[in-house]
Amino acid sequence: MSIISDDKDFKPSQKEKKNSVITPEAFENDRNFENCIRPKSFDTYIGQSGIKDTLKITIQAAKQRELPLDHLLFYGPPGLGKTTLAGVIAEEMGVDIKITSAPALERPRDIIGILMSMKEGEILFIDEIHRLNRVTEEILYPAMEDFYLDMTTGKSQTVKTLRVPLPKFTLIGATTKAGELSGPLRDRFGIIHRLEFYTEDELAKVITRTAGILNIDIDEKGAYAIARRSRGTPRIANRLVKRVSDYAIVKHNGKINEKIANDSLDVLQIDNFGLDTTDRNLLKLIIEKYDGGPVGIETIAAALGEDVRTLEDVCEPFLLQAGLLQRTPRGRKVSPEGYRHLGYKIKQSSEQQSLF
Ligand code: ADE
Repeated sequence: MSIISDDKDFKPSQKEKKNSVITPEAFENDRNFENCIRPKSFDTYIGQSGIKDTLKITIQAAKQRELPLDHLLFYGPPGLGKTTLAGVIAEEMGVDIKITSAPALERPRDIIGILMSMKEGEILFIDEIHRLNRVTEEILYPAMEDFYLDMTTGKSQTVKTLRVPLPKFTLIGATTKAGELSGPLRDRFGIIHRLEFYTEDELAKVITRTAGILNIDIDEKGAYAIARRSRGTPRIANRLVKRVSDYAIVKHNGKINEKIANDSLDVLQIDNFGLDTTDRNLLKLIIEKYDGGPVGIETIAAALGEDVRTLEDVCEPFLLQAGLLQRTPRGRKVSPEGYRHLGYKIKQSSEQQSLF
């Protein structure tokens, strides 16, 4: 697996700066860590079983036909293993993978250079593909569809277009925002999969596997205690194992059991739903200042001093999926479950009565 260009645009958001433990987006040190523990085959990749089953058939069919895989698009919240899955596909196909991300493909020559270096059957993985600029996207259309590049040479009146053939490669795109992909780009993917949040059982398996690789001593109840507070996200689960292990070394004998895991997560202020202080502040703000909502995301972001993108990409997906927050045409509302979770009495305003 080669990482061909670094994402120059990769800045930690405000939330990441404050509390990186619970943020599902990747940091530089996460990437090194993730590369060490990344499963390499379907046998070791935990979760996403529906996607795995269909991918296995797709891969076997491509191998039997001796053709490259169709272009694939993975979408879903950050931290669910889109890059890992692309690596597993490359391994199972027996081909190399080149990894980049849309913000690193700024100039036409960035994508042209990569495409011209591809070999037959190889995989190009583009993360955050919804952030491609228009020129790069238009270079990709004929490359994806008919495997050629249109290159222009000369100036104004002497300009010539040269059609350069490309090897048949597979593009795997990943995005947290499928809705922001342009129609023409989306249509060029033969296979589209949505990655789902992980169950507690799956996360406990991920945690046990990671602890094994890192030589961390953890029992089953300890793994479940961490899994419960990992927001359905393996990247968070893996980060928490390391933090809990630090705590276990300093406060105990290094072994993680249920009590040590829970004590350590309490110290990290991660509650039994996996919410951190920002998540709780968001819900509290809507309840206390806006009567439970609806209230616009910009207003919430300004009041919390967070940016809208962080709230939308990092906090909201899990709060929505956990049923603590609701999205309505007029803004965000806290659900009765959200009220209960924070220990508030549910307010029975006329609007809430009609909605809940
Ligand atoms: N680490 C991160 N994601 C994983 C997964 N899906 N299976 C096993 N280990 C993982």
